[in-house]
Parts: sequence; C-alpha cells; structure tokens
Amino acid sequence: MSYPYQITTYEAYQQAYKQSVEQPEQFWAAIAENFQWRKKWDEVLNWNFKEPKIEWFKGGKLNITENCLDRHLPTLGDEPAIIWEPNDPSEHHRILTYNQLHEKVCAFAQVLKNNGVKKGDRVCIYMGMIPELAIAILSCARIGAIHSVIFGGFSAQSISDRIIDAHAEYVITCDGAFRGGKDIPLKSVIDDALVSCEFVKRVIVFSRTRIAVSMIKGRDVWWEDEMKKIDAVGITDIKAAEMDAEDPLFILYTSGSTGKPKGVVHSSAGYMLFTNYSFVNVFQYKPGQLFFCTADIGWITGHSYIVYGPLSAGATSLMFEGVPTWPDAGRFWSIIDKFKVNILYTAPTAIRSLMGFGLQPLKGKDLSSLQILGTVGEPINEEAWHWYDENIGKKKCPIVDTWWQTETGGILISNLAGVTPAKPAHATLPLPGVQPVLVDENGKILEGNNVSGNLCIKFPWPSILRTTYGDHDRCRQNYFATYENMYFTGDGALRDENGFYRITGRVDDVLNVSGHRIGTAEVENAINMHDGVVESAVVGYPHDVKGQGIYAYVIYNSMHENEELTRKDIAMTVARIIGPIAKPDKIQFVSGLPKTRSGKIMRRILRKIAEGETQNLGDTSTLLDPGVVDEIKNAKL
Ligand code: WT7
Repeated sequence: MSYPYQITTYEAYQQAYKQSVEQPEQFWAAIAENFQWRKKWDEVLNWNFKEPKIEWFKGGKLNITENCLDRHLPTLGDEPAIIWEPNDPSEHHRILTYNQLHEKVCAFAQVLKNNGVKKGDRVCIYMGMIPELAIAILSCARIGAIHSVIFGGFSAQSISDRIIDAHAEYVITCDGAFRGGKDIPLKSVIDDALVSCEFVKRVIVFSRTRIAVSMIKGRDVWWEDEMKKIDAVGITDIKAAEMDAEDPLFILYTSGSTGKPKGVVHSSAGYMLFTNYSFVNVFQYKPGQLFFCTADIGWITGHSYIVYGPLSAGATSLMFEGVPTWPDAGRFWSIIDKFKVNILYTAPTAIRSLMGFGLQPLKGKDLSSLQILGTVGEPINEEAWHWYDENIGKKKCPIVDTWWQTETGGILISNLAGVTPAKPAHATLPLPGVQPVLVDENGKILEGNNVSGNLCIKFPWPSILRTTYGDHDRCRQNYFATYENMYFTGDGALRDENGFYRITGRVDDVLNVSGHRIGTAEVENAINMHDGVVESAVVGYPHDVKGQGIYAYVIYNSMHENEELTRKDIAMTVARIIGPIAKPDKIQFVSGLPKTRSGKIMRRILRKIAEGETQNLGDTSTLLDPGVVDEIKNAKL
C-alpha cells in the first residue's frame, strides 16, 4: 500500500490546502482515483446547504469492504489487519490477518443473508469490544445493510428508542461483555429493550462471557451455530453488494440540544475517502506500523479510526476490550510494550485519569516503539498535554490534537504529525478540503486573526453527515439553519495570531463528559421521570478528570426519607432511562429555579453557580424571583 496523497512537508500541506479550496472537485477526484470503484462517478460534487443536499461522487459504484479488505489481499493478505487484546491479560490475544478477516466477513455476511437481512435494512449492533464487532460491522457493509452500533453503556430504554427510530428488524449482540472487573449482561439488556420492539425478527448472539441468557425460539440464534452452517457448505468469499457512492453506510445516534438523540447518517464513498485521507495524513501512517485507537467502536472515533480509516489504508489496527485502569493503571503501557505500538490515539479524559496514578504504573514499561500520539474528544488542558508529551512520548513524539464530531465523520482540524506545527491545547489548522469560519451571534464572519466566535464550516467535505435518519428537516434545523449557507458545529473557537484554531467547547446545551456527548435536555427528561421530581435543570461544570461533570438542580416535592438516598434513586432512574454514562455527578435540591418572566430557565446563572462563581452572575433583574438565586448560591454543593 502506498499513499500518493500523503502530505510530508509543511509546504506540501499549504499547497494541498490551497488547491482543495480553489479546485475542490479536482482535488477530491484525484484522491478518489486511489480507491477501487466498480464504476466511476458521474459528478464529483453536488451541494446546497439550504435543504441541505450533499452528494459526493454520485453515480459512482463501489463497496467499502472491497476497499477495506479485498483489494489488500494480493499484497497484505498475511499481514495483520486487527490485533485484539482481551480484557483479561492472562487470556490469549488474537490476530486476524487481512485474509482471515476477509473470510470471516464473507462468512458472516452470508449468515446475515441466511437470516433475511437485505440491502438497505437497518441492523442494530450492541456488542463489547471484540473482533466480532468489527466483523459484524463489515459484514453489514458487505451486503449493503445499514449498521447502527449502540455503545454498551446505554440502557435498554435508549436501545429501544434507537431500534424503533431506525426500524431495525435485526440485532447482533453478545451474551455479555467483559470490561475491567465487570461482566456486562448485554443480551439481557437487549431482551429488556425488545419488549417494546416486537417487530424485531432476528437476534444473533455471539457467546463471549457465556453467562446464562434467554434464547427465544424463532427469534434468537447463536452466532457460532450460524457460522457452522456456513463452514459446512464452505463459503469463503461472497460478492459484495454494489453500492452507490451516496447510499447510506451507517447510522450513529448522538446527542444534541433537544431531548431526543439524532441518527446521524453517513454515506459510503465520501466517508471512506475522508476517513482514509485523514488517517493517512494526520497520523502520518507508514505501512507496517501498529495503530492503537483506544476508543470504543460504539462511538464515531472507533468507527472511523479503528475500523474504516485504518482498514481502508491496509493498516494494522489494535483493538482493546478492556479499560485503561484494569487490572491496574499501567494497562495501556503494558499493551504498547507487548505489541510495540507505534501510534497511540486516546482521549484527554484517559490521560488525566492515568496522570492521577503518578509514574509508578509506567515503571518497567518499554514505550520506545511509540512515534506519534493523538488526542480526541474534548479540549486538552496544557497540563495533560505536557504530561503526555513528557512521560508517554518522551518528548520525541509529535502530538496531534484532532478536532471533529460524529457529524463530520473524520478529523477536520488537526496538526499533521511532525509535518505541520503543534501547539499545546490547539487543534491548529484545518485539513485540506475543510473551510472553517468563525462567526459572531448574528452570523457575521469574523475575519483576521486573534478572534473568537462560533465555529462553522462553509464548504462541504466528503464525510459530512447527509441527514438525520427519518427526519431530514431536523438535520437542516440543527446544523444548517442557525447560520445561512454554513454548517454550524455547536462549538466555540478562537483563532490565534498565527491562524491556529483552539476549540473552547460547546456553545449549545450539549455536555462533554469524559469525551462522551450528552444533551442536558435528555438528562433533564430522565430526572423528571423520577417520582417526586417536579422540575430540573442540568448544566456542566469543570471536572478534573472527566472534563465536564453533570450538575443537576432538582425541585423535589416529596419528603426525603434521606437526601442522599433520594440522590441515588434519581441517579438510578437516569441510568435506567439513558444509561450509567449520564448519571449526574451532583444533585442539588432547590425550591425554585431562576426563570425569566416568560418562564425560561436562566441556565447562564446556574452554570456560573455550578462552576463556583458567586459574584459576577450577570444581570438578574429580569428574573421572576431574584431571591431564588441567593438560596441556590448559598446551598451550592
Ligand atoms: C464534540 C464532538 C470526534 C470524536 C469524539 C467526539 C468535542 C472533539 C475535540 C478536540 C476540543 C473536541 C467538541 C465536539 N471535541 N474533539 N480535539 N478539542 N474539543 O465526538 O461525541 O460527536 O463530540 O467533542 O465539542 O463538538 P462527538
């Protein structure tokens, strides 16, 4: 595999950037030539942000799995595609070569077909971090089914909401998942979810933890039994479905400022091109290197940089089942040492959490194989950046700070490792093809450097979301209606004296907790479902490890048997409705919330109080009952 489009000097970056803005169609068409097409496209780009309508390479025919697997077989067939490290370090790791992965994907694609899955059908995948998860994803793509992966930390209620929204008639899951010291009963959660999804026709269950599970006759089948049937007839290759460039590849649900998560839809060709291009350029991947992205495949980072980006580039992707702190806080470092990882891509929250354990867990771990480090998911504070640089990279590994979103499909703003300059806590410069702008509240574009504003992108890149599943107008309203002719990211940013971007965080009601996106409205809805809760308001506050913590102000009308127990009860309700990831860190009981005369909650004030600010709360004169602010302030947790 060679990458003629890999940028290796700062000058080449500037040149590529210039061309990508001046002649975007020629620029991306030339890159598209490096992939395998059944038929070339009719038109490179057709777009308007009004509807929005965005089509890249329309009329082109391909299958992403032929690009991720088949085309590598002649040269890389015996090279490792996926190296998998289990949760328990005493269990043996697994290596899947490109040949083996191809064979398994073909076999499981046939299993899907045998079970009735057809092109365009939605398949919900709820599994732990095992190679079969990657196999399930690629098998869906092979036959043109649309996968919708749900992170293992979501509750039955969240799963059924997503299954219903996508009308997914097929589910792939595991009996359970190992994560650190815990066994998570995935199948049992799925069973609860499916009580309200009677339309689900088939559940395929891979056995990983082999805890007792219920298997409903006619609906549930074992993965292994289905695979045996394939082995018996000896299928080792199935022809991939021919997909249009614009056919949807997957749905991934993410939180916004409303109460209901949105199903972000990504297309086939544009997504493939951009995840590959960004992977090769940001991480400066060289054939033979081992790439370790620590994200869960349940999030976009795992989709783009464990599965599609690396595999389309013929890379070796390391997949880890467990957590960084189990059996001890040296686990990442042991894995790097064991497999000689070259590139590590992780989240600031993981770095901060590991920083807290000091240097002891690093003792005796050889990290000299590392060449490049990356971060993603939230702003990285300078302290964590320097700790990462000094103790993990030993000051010899460039660090890439990669800014992007579920909706952008791939990395939009980042330095290119060792090629363009890095600056702590700055994502720095846009990738070629990405045209960021900062705007003020009225949508006026802020020119020049040393300015801050709301971050928008004014031109489409190949992996921009195409729609929100089942509700295109929601996509328009959310991303394309705030500012005319621009994609609005929801983030604030500043552009420094050199034109480098620093992302400052969300400007909407979306929280970023340990790099996970959670809508305040979603958490409020869940809290309000708890018996006795009258009303609630949720805001974020700075948290040393998680980046942001969840602070809930709750009006509770019943007598507390015990305040602490009520807090736990409320947290339990949130865990049931959304999932453990959305549990509030702090719950303050209040008698009222600061509201304007028109009844709108003044979140700005609540946010300041949660952040520990007591003096400059801004203008409170428009409040219905200014007295409530003092009460809240004085009782702050
Ligand atoms: C939000 C997107 C992108 C994959 C993981 C999260 C924040 C992401 C950075 C960064 C500062 C960042 C933004 C963004 N974010 N990367 N390098 N610096 N903030 O995907 O769940 O869609 O969340 O994460 O606020 O909007 P996501």
